[in-house]
Amino acid sequence: MSADTSPKNLDANPPVDGSELIRFDKVTKRFGSNVVLDELDFSVASGKHVTLIGPSGSGKTTILRLLMTLTSPDSGSIKVNGDYLTHEQRNGKLVPAGDKHIREVRKNIGMVFQQFNLFPNMKVLRNITEAPVTVLGLSKDEAEERARELLDMVGLGDRCDAYPTQLSGGQQQRVAIARALAMRPQVLLLDEVTSALDPELVAGVLDVLRDIARTTDITMLCVTHEMNFARDISDRVLMFDAGRVIESGSPDKMFTEPEHERTREFLSAVL
Ligand SMILES: Nc1ncnc2c1ncn2[C@@H]1O[C@H](COP(=O)(O)OP(=O)(O)O)[C@@H](O)[C@H]1O
Ligand SMILES: [Mg+2]
Repeated sequence: MSADTSPKNLDANPPVDGSELIRFDKVTKRFGSNVVLDELDFSVASGKHVTLIGPSGSGKTTILRLLMTLTSPDSGSIKVNGDYLTHEQRNGKLVPAGDKHIREVRKNIGMVFQQFNLFPNMKVLRNITEAPVTVLGLSKDEAEERARELLDMVGLGDRCDAYPTQLSGGQQQRVAIARALAMRPQVLLLDEVTSALDPELVAGVLDVLRDIARTTDITMLCVTHEMNFARDISDRVLMFDAGRVIESGSPDKMFTEPEHERTREFLSAVL
């Protein structure tokens, strides 16, 4: 294994904890000389809703992109469901994961982006059925049935045949949420999903997410500046600054009596 791809701090015999869905262990990520994540440790238990808050540029999106394997850590390890995300065991050795392993682990993870990222050339229904058919191997009928249920859930049951550009931003984002859920992920990553929306469209999207938080057992890792929403849905809030979690706790504690000066400053600027 080459030195470049060999992560430091990798724990070859990790403790088994069935309830831990996501675990970052001393994850460092640099862009050039910019250390974006600095030996970051945190974990998310199965079924919990965790919100990341912190200033712009502090590395929140990078955390989610690492989980989606859109980028990889310089050192440290990330586990999903007890499996290393970017490494796998082969002949008793931990080696950089092959595409197949990454695809398998990533099936557990769905992401919704700030900019929706729908497939512009596909109608709404096909946006949702595409991955379940090609990645999960569902039949077209099965995938369409599930897609229609999800579109009903996000209040767009009547827009199956629209193209993304025929929808408002809020509607597009609700399609993107349905698309992520169609893969039946264990965890949903939400990256400032209402930041690109006109103000009057924000509430509809947040209502859909509140519904998902209340009625499903899906784990949520959420980056948001919507503090009322964060307070409603979160089991835990992590304040993130300069590549590390500087404070975490229940939403009550974090929003009413944060201990850290940086948290107080940040909250007074956004609330
Ligand atoms: N692909 C990239 N190339 C170079 N720098 C990047 C890249 N992606 C992110 N960064 C830098 O990493 C830092 C953290 O970015 P990001 O994770 O997007 O922060 P946040 O989501 O908290 O605003 C920023 O300084 C940003 O400029
Ligand atoms: Mg971001």
